[in-house]
Amino acid sequence: MSGPDLRRAAAARALELVQPGMKLGLGTGSTAAAFVDLLGAKVRDGLDVVGVPTSEATRIQAAGLGIRLATLDEVPQLDLTIDGADEVDDQLRLIKGGGAALLREKIVACASRRMVVIADAAKHVGTLGAFPLSIEVNPFGLAATRLAVEAALSASGCEGPVVVREKDGRPVMTDGGHMILDARLGRIPDPERLGAALWSVPGVVEHGLFLGIASAAILAADVGGKAEVT
Ligand code: 5RP
Repeated sequence: MSGPDLRRAAAARALELVQPGMKLGLGTGSTAAAFVDLLGAKVRDGLDVVGVPTSEATRIQAAGLGIRLATLDEVPQLDLTIDGADEVDDQLRLIKGGGAALLREKIVACASRRMVVIADAAKHVGTLGAFPLSIEVNPFGLAATRLAVEAALSASGCEGPVVVREKDGRPVMTDGGHMILDARLGRIPDPERLGAALWSVPGVVEHGLFLGIASAAILAADVGGKAEVT
């Protein structure tokens, strides 16, 4: 099975959690996009829900599918957020931010009674950190913030280069006008310690460690050519 098939299988299982009238957080990335696609089809069939998108990309996709949308200011408490992840461990700790939407994703997830992660089972890891950790920073004082981030990483037992995320030779800017530092750490021995250390750095707007936020993960694996969803 291909990656898109597995992402769709996880998304389809998550759709079963959606009840009429729910207020939903809509994640960002290809797996979340598969969920939004399926949700759009349900809405076309008459399902009434309201969605709060976690990025402009998701807002545009969901609006195009006719999903009723709101902001978190209009609907500050959500029933359920469905979102992807770059890594998930056994304790439902996540790395997110590969799509540069981590700040809005974390705000929306934390405003939800439940956050359910949907992913290809290949994202399930023993130790977080093989995927680069995204750190969203204010552009002001970037070089100083980067040095302070490197010190926070070191103090938390993490080592590895910290690079400004770029696309086509320019820094990637988030929907909120921030920049992204990617920390290539290999492994994160103590995610809670690292998360707290990053929080102490002025200029860090948010980091991609989602700790104690997800309530469940729906993972799809290729077992003998069929998607097995757990
Ligand atoms: C975006 C994210 C995404 O959820 C994460 O990058 C996974 O994306 P995909 O489903 O495309 O693998 O955190 O900021």
